Amino acid sequence: MARSTQAYAFGLAHLPSDLPPGPVLEIGTGQGYGAAFLSRALPQRRTVAIDVTYECFRPANLQFGPLHPWFVQASAPHLPFAPQTFALVTVVMTFHCLPQPQQVLHEIARVLRSRGALLLADVNGDHWIAPWFERVEHWGGISRLTRAYPPATLRQMAGQAGLALHTEQQRKPGGFMTWYIFRRAA
Ligand SMILES: C[S@@+](CC[C@H](N)C(=O)[O-])C[C@H]1O[C@@H](n2cnc3c(N)ncnc32)[C@H](O)[C@@H]1O
Repeated sequence: MARSTQAYAFGLAHLPSDLPPGPVLEIGTGQGYGAAFLSRALPQRRTVAIDVTYECFRPANLQFGPLHPWFVQASAPHLPFAPQTFALVTVVMTFHCLPQPQQVLHEIARVLRSRGALLLADVNGDHWIAPWFERVEHWGGISRLTRAYPPATLRQMAGQAGLALHTEQQRKPGGFMTWYIFRRAA
């Protein structure tokens, strides 16, 4: 839990200051810690959290902010939301296991408001640990889809969806996680 919320906190600290008004979409909420954190850290915004399965969801363990997050079962390549709904979309330690990743980025761009942001944090495909991470996920039966994307690939895919890179950071030098913030054009 601490690692998860630290990851979200690091990402939020680098958000642009001129985000449009509107709710937050969390993709792949898992146990729900990220959505709970977002509802506390951004108390004026409603968080909507999706996951393809709620098997891991642990609501009894979560502390929410003043606006209770809404939890929706949905799959990332087919977001059940109207265009230009969200000011911010977060995808933390989830993009690597999503089906149809290019379609997911197009869907994110579709539901983001003008000047809205995508916060994406995941294993850096150029890090030496990436092939081992993929093997553990494949052979351990966690997800056959797992792929750690190199930053250049991710930037290109996001660009094809109309999302421009705003920042790309690491919490620790040489760390295996990379945090990206992309923005939708005005
Ligand atoms: C490794 S967990 C990350 C959970 C959370 N974001 C965190 O950082 O603690 C990845 C999550 O992505 C979800 N997921 C996998 N495929 C998905 C899809 N097609 N659409 C939405 N969520 C998906 C999984 O069910 C899982 O809960």
